[in-house]
Amino acid sequence: MEELHKPVLLSEVLEVLQPRPGESYMDLTAGYAGHASEILDVTQNYKDSVLVDRDINAIRVLEEKFSGMGIRIVKADFYNAVLQEIECGNAFDMILMDFGVSSPQLDRAERGFSFAKDGPLDMRMDQSQELSAEVVVNHYNERHLAEILEKYGEEKPGFARLIAREIVHGRPWRSTAQLGEALKRYGRGGKIHPATRTFQAIRIAVNDELGLIEKTLKLLPKALKPGGRVAAITFHSLEDRLVKDWLKEASAYGEESELRVLTKKPVTAENEELFINPRARSAKLRVAVKL
Ligand SMILES: C[S@@+](CC[C@H](N)C(=O)[O-])C[C@H]1O[C@@H](n2cnc3c(N)ncnc32)[C@H](O)[C@@H]1O
Repeated sequence: MEELHKPVLLSEVLEVLQPRPGESYMDLTAGYAGHASEILDVTQNYKDSVLVDRDINAIRVLEEKFSGMGIRIVKADFYNAVLQEIECGNAFDMILMDFGVSSPQLDRAERGFSFAKDGPLDMRMDQSQELSAEVVVNHYNERHLAEILEKYGEEKPGFARLIAREIVHGRPWRSTAQLGEALKRYGRGGKIHPATRTFQAIRIAVNDELGLIEKTLKLLPKALKPGGRVAAITFHSLEDRLVKDWLKEASAYGEESELRVLTKKPVTAENEELFINPRARSAKLRVAVKL
């Protein structure tokens, strides 16, 4: 099968998670199974493992890839998926979260995640969800937009207000490239395209990315067996802060804590990987074990 998405920090994930034959695994962002395939190859325990994603395209590929192997494939957001597992009394030896978007989400113009590939203003990871980028850019008021840009795009307040005003005045917006082009004049030098932060902010808002991460992290110790390992790969500082703060809190009482952190500093990609996979540039891996 063609490789649709190159997994980041793959060897590092295997090194810290240390999968062993027979162990159970839950992948909360299974995508195209880049990490999952390697881990399941070692554990060979398909029947006690679960692959979760909220993107129907990823689910279809997973179903085809693992057809007849007895693994559960769940189309849901990871918060509801974890809740469900806990309610059923299931716990796992390993849990992985690899946040952010997959390459097919970013590369396919029709998904509307990218200003570099002209497409509809969509950005929904779950294609059945009502809220899309079109609603955010064409219907949210200026103050709400400025808040999103400040909070999720980490723009300075004055700048966020300026961009929010541009978005409101330039309505209606019909495509990602049209919006990206209009935001070009808000460049402040540097290498990153001026629309990058705005697109990140809209995407996070559309998919409630940070809200779901924060709620889910709190549940995870209950979904781990004692000795179970949990790994999170983040792609920007907002995600990483949530994971870092959660790990700090969950490991604050030494041996009395729920978790012990295994990565003192976040693990990042080696040059070799950066060379073949630029997506790995901002990736940070943090891992903990359930006590
Ligand atoms: C970076 S990709 C994961 C790639 C995967 N590790 C691999 O190697 O193929 C992130 C995936 O997580 C999914 N995702 C993001 N947030 C999610 C959420 N809250 N619930 C369920 N899936 C989510 C996205 O749809 C996407 O397919």
